[in-house]
Amino acid sequence: MKIIHERLGAKLFLANLVVILVGLVILAITIQITIPAAFNRHMGQMNSSAMNGMGMGQGQGQGLGRTLFENFRASMFESLGYAATASVLAALLVSFILSRRIVAPVQTLTTASQSIADGHYDERVAVNGSDEIAQLALHFNQMAAQLEQVESMRRQLIGDVSHELRTPLTAIKGSMEGLMDGVLPANDETYRQIHAEAERLNRLVNDLQELSRVEARAYELDLRPLDVSSIIHSVTKRLSPQFESKRISLDLDLPAHLPHVLADEDRAIQVLTNLTGNALQYTPEGGKIKISAKQSKDEIQIAVQDSGVGIPPEHLTNIFDRFYRVDKSRSRQAGGGSGIGLTVARALVEAHGGRIWAESTGEGKGSTFTFSLKIDG
Ligand SMILES: Nc1ncnc2c1ncn2[C@@H]1O[C@H](COP(=O)(O)OP(=O)(O)O)[C@@H](O)[C@H]1O
Ligand SMILES: [Mg+2]
Repeated sequence: MKIIHERLGAKLFLANLVVILVGLVILAITIQITIPAAFNRHMGQMNSSAMNGMGMGQGQGQGLGRTLFENFRASMFESLGYAATASVLAALLVSFILSRRIVAPVQTLTTASQSIADGHYDERVAVNGSDEIAQLALHFNQMAAQLEQVESMRRQLIGDVSHELRTPLTAIKGSMEGLMDGVLPANDETYRQIHAEAERLNRLVNDLQELSRVEARAYELDLRPLDVSSIIHSVTKRLSPQFESKRISLDLDLPAHLPHVLADEDRAIQVLTNLTGNALQYTPEGGKIKISAKQSKDEIQIAVQDSGVGIPPEHLTNIFDRFYRVDKSRSRQAGGGSGIGLTVARALVEAHGGRIWAESTGEGKGSTFTFSLKIDG
């Protein structure tokens, strides 16, 4: 009984056996019930034609018929017995073949999933045909690929984070050692440097926290109909000190009657602040920034265009990846962040069902960042 519970092959054999036995039993019962009448009818026809010629008596004929019938029935059931044996053997063979075809791929899947559970994420199984088991194998492989990707992202993230943390930490440690050894003068300048590095660490940790919150979707979107112009105005007002200190001119291009978008106000402001902040950061003094909004089908596209350093085309698709910076040393000198701002912006825009993309005609020719939000209604 245990083997039947635990083995698919045994179940298949039992199933085949049951089908054959039921067939045999029905066959036997049907024969038992119908054979006397059928026999009599056929013998009756034979008797009447044969006995007419031989002149046999009625009683003689009946006795002969009965033994004939008994023998006939016995031979009938004897061959049924052979048939039963042959069928059971056939059942064994069929279930053997079936279980090899059905059980083998299931066993492969079991082994593969065990191997994945042990941390071998590169394990895959062969997909043969297109039946349910092949589908299962296909989905199994997809799941394995997904797990592999998550695992490699996790490794990459830990590597990136430790690398990012090390830079400011090394600087702080170096300055402190310089102070202790008397190589660095204990003056305002040194303290300011150390403070700036600590501030950098602080920003990085805040950015990481925000990133993990946004990527884990650990926040609620408070979607309401919003006026895009008022969002743009509140961002430019907030950033106006930076515009002034870098003497960057601001140009707004906002059509008078734009439909409202459906968005979370704080999040929309956060995205636009990120993009405008970048534009300010990567545009030299005296440059220009233009913010525009326009309707395109069922969405409003908000674009931030600058006359700054631009982005080489090969970097355009990567700059939304976390920690990605076109020029790490430049970004650092320019007081740049850790390359998380655009990652957060993209996650927020996509959570709204919108898109975000960057365009640039090349280095030194400025860049345009555009994101879209769905129109309310
Ligand atoms: N307006 C822009 N002009 C030129 N390069 C930009 C602009 N915005 C972003 N980038 C590039 O994309 C990278 C990623 O941006 P972001 O995620 O905001 O990180 P960061 O913290 O460095 O600003 C930046 O390091 C920079 O190289
Ligand atoms: Mg930034």
